[in-house]
Amino acid sequence: MVPIPKIAPGNEFGPLLIKRGERVFVLTGAGVSAESGVPTFRDAGGLWEQHRVEDVATPEGFERAPELVWRFYSERRKKAATVQPNAAHLALARLGEQIGDDLFLCTQNVDALHERAGSRGVWHMHGRLLSTRCSECSRAPFDDESAYEKAPRCDCGALLRPDVVWFGEMPYGLSRIYQALEETDLFVTVGSSGAVYPAAGFVSHLRHLGRARCIYVGLEKPENAHAFDECRLGKAGDLVPSLFELANR
Ligand code: APR
Repeated sequence: MVPIPKIAPGNEFGPLLIKRGERVFVLTGAGVSAESGVPTFRDAGGLWEQHRVEDVATPEGFERAPELVWRFYSERRKKAATVQPNAAHLALARLGEQIGDDLFLCTQNVDALHERAGSRGVWHMHGRLLSTRCSECSRAPFDDESAYEKAPRCDCGALLRPDVVWFGEMPYGLSRIYQALEETDLFVTVGSSGAVYPAAGFVSHLRHLGRARCIYVGLEKPENAHAFDECRLGKAGDLVPSLFELANR
């Protein structure tokens, strides 16, 4: 029989115990940065209500109108410079300090708020907003906070592009991610609607492996809620700081 997830306000659940040596995989989505003032994608007023995904987040859109795409990401870069990490980012950084390599922090977010909260080794599966790469040559991606009005060019003559993963492109580092999932004892997703794959499918993969407890934390029930053991509803900044408790360490 397929177990039914328990879905309830977050304060109805106790803390998640992490025993010594247990591996924790945290996947964050736009909801973790919402309280910092970074807009999410699919909520009311979210980015995909104001922009067409096909125009600003696909390789085809970039080919058609690179200036439009650069203006979109330049606005996001400017906004990123004005926001601060919130209590959820800080709590995850603290967890990293406490359990070190036993935490694998993977984010779908392109912002740098986990790093700015103090997290190390954050896995940016959808790339980074403050990084730019060449659309053609093998030059390494480079840190870049600039806002562009016109599409910039690489030394090789081709267009430079934001170092983010667009729809139809392969997320970064999937083999390392799946390796980490294999070792996971506790999987926690924070603030992701569960609409975008492969990230939305990590929880079903873990269900299939049958080893990890799988917990969702976020404002609303996600689309992939059925695959979690629990969905703890509430704001990340309210719930994440008291989510974990270290046992036998
Ligand atoms: N605390 C917790 N969760 C929140 C909060 C909050 N304060 N505010 C909003 N949320 C939840 C929403 O209920 C929603 O389920 O965060 C989720 C955000 O969902 P999306 O906007 O779909 O963002 P995400 O799941 O991260 O999107 C995945 O889609 O467009 C792509 O590449 C983009 O990485 C992104 C991917």
